[in-house]
Parts: sequence; C-alpha cells; structure tokens
Amino acid sequence: MATSQAALKAEQAIGHGDNATTLQDMSNPSLYSSGDASEKMKALAWMGKNKVEIVECPKPKILEPRDVILKITGSTVCGSDLHLLHGTVVEMQKGDILGHEFCGVVDAIGPGVKNLKKGQRVVASFQIACGECYYCKQKLSSQCEKTNANTLMNAMYGGRTAGMFGYSHFTGGFAGGQAEYTRVPYADVNLLPLPDDVPDEKGLYLSDVLGTSWHAVVDTGVKKGDVVAIWGAGPIGQMAADFSLLNGASRVIMIDQNWRLEWVQKKYPNVDILDFTKLGKGESVTSKLKEMCNNRGPDVSIECAAGEYAKGWAHYFEMLLGLETDTSEIVNEMITSTRNFGRCGITGVYAGFTNHFNIGSLMERGIRLIGNGQAPVQLYWESLLKMIQEGKIDPLRMVTHRVRLEDLDKVYYKFENKEDGMQKVFVETRFSRPAAPGSPSLTRY
Ligand SMILES: NC(=O)c1ccc[n+]([C@@H]2O[C@H](COP(=O)([O-])OP(=O)(O)OC[C@H]3O[C@@H](n4cnc5c(N)ncnc54)[C@H](O)[C@@H]3O)[C@@H](O)[C@H]2O)c1
Ligand SMILES: [Zn+2]
Ligand SMILES: [Zn+2]
Repeated sequence: MATSQAALKAEQAIGHGDNATTLQDMSNPSLYSSGDASEKMKALAWMGKNKVEIVECPKPKILEPRDVILKITGSTVCGSDLHLLHGTVVEMQKGDILGHEFCGVVDAIGPGVKNLKKGQRVVASFQIACGECYYCKQKLSSQCEKTNANTLMNAMYGGRTAGMFGYSHFTGGFAGGQAEYTRVPYADVNLLPLPDDVPDEKGLYLSDVLGTSWHAVVDTGVKKGDVVAIWGAGPIGQMAADFSLLNGASRVIMIDQNWRLEWVQKKYPNVDILDFTKLGKGESVTSKLKEMCNNRGPDVSIECAAGEYAKGWAHYFEMLLGLETDTSEIVNEMITSTRNFGRCGITGVYAGFTNHFNIGSLMERGIRLIGNGQAPVQLYWESLLKMIQEGKIDPLRMVTHRVRLEDLDKVYYKFENKEDGMQKVFVETRFSRPAAPGSPSLTRY
C-alpha cells in the first residue's frame, strides 16, 4: 500500500483530535453524502498515485452556518498539486476533489455570514481560517488552530497547520475548487471580495501564489541592496523574484534547469539566470554563485522548488526506499552558497525528514535557515489586491494558458511534464466570463 494510503488508514484508526470547530473529511460530496443529490457538477478528483480524473458528483450544500457555496469561475494548478498527484503529501483518498486556488461568485449563503451577498465576486484563500483563534487574530491564517484536526500531522510536526482546500486529509480533507462549485467553511473570513476593476484572471492568484511569493520574500528578510538567489523558476519563484526587486533587492539570480529560465529572461529582464545543467566541469551551483557574487555568495537564498525533486541518485534511492521523505540537496546548496550570516528561506514543500543535511556549514557560518511555512496569505491579500489595482504588480506575467475544467486531467500531466510551455494556467468553467484583455485565449486538450 502506498505511504499516502497507509497514513490515511492510520489516521482513521487513531482518530482525529478534538480541536476543530468545522467538519473534517468533506473532500467530495458523493463520498460523504454531504451534497445536493438533485444537482450534479463536474470536478477534478485524485484517483490514486499519479492519477487524476474528471468526475461527476452532487453539488455541495451548506452544512454549517458560516458556509458559502461558491460557483467557481476560475481556478488553476499549483506546483503543490503535483505533490498530491505524486502522493508526496500523504493521506489522499480516492475521489478527493483537488484545487486550492479559486475564485467565483457567491451562490448560496449560510445564516452566519453577514459580510457577503449572493452574486458577489470573491477569491478564496488556500487555507481555511476560523478568524478567531490565537493565529487568526494575528492574520497568520495558514496556522489556524481550529480547522484541521489531523492527529498524524500533530504527532509528526509537533503542531498543525490550518485546514486547506483540496490538500489531502493531512490538512483536514476539504474539497477543493477545481470544480464547478465548492463549499467554503468560515466564508466570512476566507473569501475576499474582488472589485470590478480586477478581473478573475488577475484576482484568482491572490488565493496562493501572490501571497506565498510575497511572504517568501518578506519572511526571509530581503532588504534594500540585497543580492537574492532563488531556486525554482516556476510561478512561485518568478513572483518571488519580482517581489524581491520591489522590496529593494539589488540583484536576483534564478536557478533552474529548463525553458522556464528563457521565459524569465523574456518576462523579467532584470533577473539573472543560472541553468545548473549547463555548468562546466568541476563547477557547482555553489561555486557559480560565489563567482557571480563577490566570492561570498548571495545575501539571501529562497527555495521555491520542493523536497521531492532529487538531483542525484543517492537521494533518489533513499527516497524510493523510504529512508528519507525529502532530499537535502537544494537546502544544502542554499546553505553553502549564501554568504556568512546570510538568510535562507524554504517555501517549496517539504513533507518530512531528510538525510545528509549540512548542519556544520549552517552552524559555523551563521546561516539563518527559515521555514517560511504554508504562507498566511490573508495577512497580505488586501495590500496585494491594491497593488494589482495600481498596476504595481501584474500576475498575468506568469500565466501561459487558459484551459477548460473538462480538460483539467490532461492539463495536470502537461503541467507536470512542463509540456507546451505550460506553467501557470487559468482554468475556466461554464460560469466564467470571456477572457479578460491581456490574458491568454482558450486552449482545448
Ligand atoms: N509555502 C507555501 O505556502 C506554498 C504555496 C504554494 C506553493 N508552494 C510550493 O512552492 C514550490 C514552487 O511552486 P510552483 O507552483 O512554482 O511549482 P512548479 O512545480 O511549477 O516549479 C518548481 C520549479 O522548481 C524547479 N526545480 C526542481 N528541482 C530543482 C533544483 N534542484 N534546483 C532548482 N530548481 C529546481 C523545477 O524545474 C520547476 O521549474 C512547490 O513546492 C510548491 O508546492 C508552497
Ligand atoms: Zn499552491
Ligand atoms: Zn483560527
């Protein structure tokens, strides 16, 4: 049995904690008889390791007073969805509806939601926050104490994150927004109204990628004049590069290995690139970065790739054999590359434990290693929305495709393999408006 499934069975046997104030394991209305059987909808569901399918299931219905049923008008695929697809994030159940970045129109409202109206356009945060606990009071929404009762996570991590949409039973088992409708618990907290001058094609990305990249930059402490190196030139890395420059970085260098670096050169001309497959004999990412940065290295390094992407055979086999869950290669590269007393932040997803961690370099050279956490996007989403309105940031720079929900299963595999020049997509449903000016036109698969 795959680790993901074994973990789910263990959780079911042990039972959840009693901290959650919202229903757990509502990951598909047909699995938990929590829907309105008279109306069907389409959704993208996880059907086993490396397998997703478009399924039909009942439309969700209001289950708790602070719920909203959202009619989805836009969603997307995130690098994090690949960790679910691959089973790296554990406790997936066959039939779980995925998708943690989505926007839409309020379709039905529970009696406890006072700040929203039927028909209002809104974007959801990827995390589900209660709005009232210790962390929520500080807007640290990703660490809400009341929306995820997972026992395994609590034991393994020494604490829990918030519940998350479409992100396994490890984070509460909530149905996601890669669907025609979804249920939003504590909707008065977890939905941000979108003004008329911000189209879905821009507002959607307030769910995750914008807040996450912003958090990676400010939480790792990028300051005026800093040289910043970023591992992973996906959408998160690209926006983190943009935001580093906005926060005063003097130079940004992005490290990756594929066509995305050419995209970066075209769309972000102030960013330098380092392709690690093109290094000369005897060169490493660290030696190259030293050479590029006064022989000391960058002031700040940010990880926007992930722990599941082993570079060498050793870590590949250790992961395959279950001797570790994540490779330490990228983090070690960051530590050895960064100047003494510099800062390293980890935003790419790491699931558990790693071997061969270079603790010596970290300690002796005073490297500050920061886990950025699942990003508390609600801390930033109002100010980021304003920056979109003012034209200070343009989320469309990272968007390559517009696709249909009906084709999303095929899109997952293209996104995974970086085919057709695909990175951030906009997924439309039958409820979406025509493509906004400046956004890609529809591609069918
Ligand atoms: N912390 C959070 O709140 C949060 C939120 C969203 C996404 N994430 C995570 O951030 C990461 C990036 O997200 P994304 O949507 O841009 O993903 P993505 O999969 O589109 O991009 C990841 C990039 O990393 C590159 N990469 C892989 N191994 C590398 C290596 N050894 N060195 C340099 N680059 C390497 C890949 O080629 C790819 O271009 C993912 O792990 C995602 O799960 C975290
Ligand atoms: Zn995400
Ligand atoms: Zn809370």
